[in-house]
Amino acid sequence: MSTDEFPTDSPAIVTCGLPYANGDLHIGHLRGYIGADAFNRALETLGQETAYVSGSDMHGTPVAVNAEQEGVDPAEFALDWHEQYEETFPKFNVDFDNYGHTHDETNTELTQEIVRSLDEEGYVYEREIQVAYDPDADQYLPDRYVQGTCPYCGEKARGDECDEGCQRHLEPGEVEDPKSTITGNPAEYRHRSHKFFRVSEFSDYLTEFLDGLEGTSNARNQPRQWIEEGLQDWCLTRDMEWGIDYPGSEEEDIVLYVWVDAPVEYIASTKQYSERVGTDEYDWERVWKDDGEIVHVIGRDIIQHHTIFWPAMLEGAGYNAPRAVAATGFITINGKGLSTSRNRAIWAEEYLEEGFHPDLLRYYLTTTGGLQQDVDFSWDAFQEKVNGELVGTVGNFWYRSLLFAYRNFEGTPDADVSEEVEERIEGAIGEVREAVNDYSLRGIGQAATRLAQFGNEYIQRNEPWNLTDDDPERAQQVIRDCVQIAKAIAVLLEPITPNKSQLLWDQIGEEGEIADAGLEAALEAPPRNFAEPGELFEKIEDDRVDELNEKLEERVAAAGDEETESDDTDEDETADMADGDEETSDLEPLLEDRIGFEEFQDVDIRVGRIETAEGIEGADDLAKLEVDIGFETRQVVAGIKQLHDLEELPGEKCILLANMEPAELFGVESNGMVLAAGEQADLLTTHGDAEVGEKVR
Ligand code: MF3
Ligand code: ZN
Repeated sequence: MSTDEFPTDSPAIVTCGLPYANGDLHIGHLRGYIGADAFNRALETLGQETAYVSGSDMHGTPVAVNAEQEGVDPAEFALDWHEQYEETFPKFNVDFDNYGHTHDETNTELTQEIVRSLDEEGYVYEREIQVAYDPDADQYLPDRYVQGTCPYCGEKARGDECDEGCQRHLEPGEVEDPKSTITGNPAEYRHRSHKFFRVSEFSDYLTEFLDGLEGTSNARNQPRQWIEEGLQDWCLTRDMEWGIDYPGSEEEDIVLYVWVDAPVEYIASTKQYSERVGTDEYDWERVWKDDGEIVHVIGRDIIQHHTIFWPAMLEGAGYNAPRAVAATGFITINGKGLSTSRNRAIWAEEYLEEGFHPDLLRYYLTTTGGLQQDVDFSWDAFQEKVNGELVGTVGNFWYRSLLFAYRNFEGTPDADVSEEVEERIEGAIGEVREAVNDYSLRGIGQAATRLAQFGNEYIQRNEPWNLTDDDPERAQQVIRDCVQIAKAIAVLLEPITPNKSQLLWDQIGEEGEIADAGLEAALEAPPRNFAEPGELFEKIEDDRVDELNEKLEERVAAAGDEETESDDTDEDETADMADGDEETSDLEPLLEDRIGFEEFQDVDIRVGRIETAEGIEGADDLAKLEVDIGFETRQVVAGIKQLHDLEELPGEKCILLANMEPAELFGVESNGMVLAAGEQADLLTTHGDAEVGEKVR
């Protein structure tokens, strides 16, 4: 690994957390898979040598428990899901260089080899521990076979993870009041001998490792705290049949803990890729044992595995350390925790069946919040984002400029790009470079949409339609600029909307794949001629959204009914990467990351008074407000039309975020944000003598 900025001279590998092969994929998975794919594509546009790999996570109790419930063999069960995932990912333009699975030979051999070398290096020892046991089922109860209370935070927890509370990994025997998930009986404890990995010896190594780790700050801060509390050794084995045998224990019903063999698939999958394309083209050993730039994109629920156990394993077995761990927040649906058992989710296949283009979801998921923020999905917000940014800003610019160019010049007019436009495009390229080095997907998207915004202003300001007769040369210049901007947007947006960008590429007569073009192509002249353009984005209509909302409500309600009838608990819930099953509460979880006072001071919040309030035509939820904030009166758009009697609002005090970036919603400019809380958009206000214009501190 180097500490140079991307692109570096070393090959990179981008990975995303392996999905358990145990159920349908949903939007929570897609956020990570699409995010990592976009990051890998973005690295490529910078000229970085890179590959993107992952695979299905076949072992462990998440698979065994679900297979057992369906009465099928875990191997067969997992393989079925694996095959389904292999088909689904390409449909979202998630383009793996290799997608393997943990039960294949490559991973089995590599895992055993790594465990053997940890053993040889003296990092493994045997210890007798208490293991939960269900006498009625006559079975040991590893991990998800047992449920109880987290000893750290008191939340309901699974045998090996505090999935609803503090997200910590739990060791066998740690969970309090353990109950068997097979029979519901209290578990008995029995003595068993198990293998342990001396993670505690890696405290100093890991502290240093975290200091140099790139990615999101949550992936550095949480593990620092865990190290401070004191690291425990890690139990490597489990009493079950399904999994990879502990080397030398083939005769016994003891297998490696799923979290040992799962991350090894990152290496195994890279190896398979290398073997397919040849080591001259991509050398897995160089990446994993020498100077590769290893970038892990994961959900924030598996930070501990990727910043403690995994780097310790890599270090102990003589492998390279990860350069970055980027941990994404969870996805909520209409403000509530995504829940597969309650059917409160957007399923991958369902999204496609509704006929939406995958790039729309890719754009939504990568640009709605920062990587580590929780992102809410609602069909309304999806519509707003697609109609506002993709249709209204990007699509509109693409179409109007290319159509004008086609009609007047049958393609790209003969002129050089103006200095102003060239500089603006260079600026956008710089923003993308910086965003990639900050692991900010949103930054990449914003650089592109802001360029489109500039393009729209540029056309508006220069009015080429008035120039064609009076000043044809000037018209030629302006349109030449616009075609270049259109091309540049396509290039910048390619990591996020690869398919739509390719369509634009074809549209302007470029040959080959835009994915191979590289960022600098944004400044290169397009071919002279192109055909009549078509529109690349389609507006999502309100009745479509109503329909989708209704469907979602109905199926959540139906799942809820079933749940009460059968008194189904969530034990059988499949765990999904980053799905954030916040079953117990509808509140969004608190952000772990603290900000400094200075950062807070960057947020300019003011006391305001609403002067006028009226609905916005065509938008069901939006109202246009004029808010006096002392210095000036601001026009803001707020999603409160249905929730407030607009006539009552004038004269009311409110709280307004004044340095919010201006945005355009349904053609109305919004210059600030009125703060509100709760489902009814309860408007924040002051209760004393704070005057209009005063700063909130
Ligand atoms: N299957 C795990 C989960 O969904 C993720 C495994 S990621 C890897 O939580 F690091 F083990 F590969
Ligand atoms: Zn906990």
